Amino acid sequence: MREVVNPAQVILVTARGNADVLGKDIHKDNIITLAWHSPLSFDPELYGICVGKTRFSCGLIDGSKVFAVNFVPHELKEKALYCGRNTGATTDKFAKSGLTKEECDTIDCCRIKEASAVLECEVIDQFETGDHIFFVGKVLKTINRDDKKRLIYLGTERFTTTI
Ligand SMILES: Cc1cc2nc3c(=O)[nH]c(=O)nc-3n(C[C@H](O)[C@H](O)[C@H](O)COP(=O)(O)O)c2cc1C
Repeated sequence: MREVVNPAQVILVTARGNADVLGKDIHKDNIITLAWHSPLSFDPELYGICVGKTRFSCGLIDGSKVFAVNFVPHELKEKALYCGRNTGATTDKFAKSGLTKEECDTIDCCRIKEASAVLECEVIDQFETGDHIFFVGKVLKTINRDDKKRLIYLGTERFTTTI
């Protein structure tokens, strides 16, 4: 399946919460790179994201029941790769990637200032899908900042954009 599902648009999902890291309770704003995600409904507006159970972000979203979907331009490729190769359990991805943290308007979460568009979402349902959790988010706010060419994933850490 991995060989045939791409290309897919890359999103950066931001999440906030407390997590037990090496026995310490820490509070964190984190960023995860995702290629598995989808719009689900117009009315109500719903957006779904699929997060591996082993990802640090999975526990944050499960705990807070909110997340922000950040649609990013192609120029953020290296930053997206950084957020997709490293775990927030041991790194501050905002500090290390240089992405700018902004406070969301409708949820207790952060979003990315450099994103072309953002969906602020509240989790209204979630399902185990094998080794991932599929979170169903109700879109509480949509921000549409620019129409820069988006970042598209081709698989095995290769990217392209639209024409
Ligand atoms: C282009 C790209 C797409 C990815 N898509 C997904 C995805 O859809 N779901 C997922 O769980 N992980 C995906 N990953 C892997 C996570 O981004 C990666 O494991 C990340 O380090 C997890 O961060 P965290 O531990 O801070 O949550 C992707 C990685 C890359 C580079």
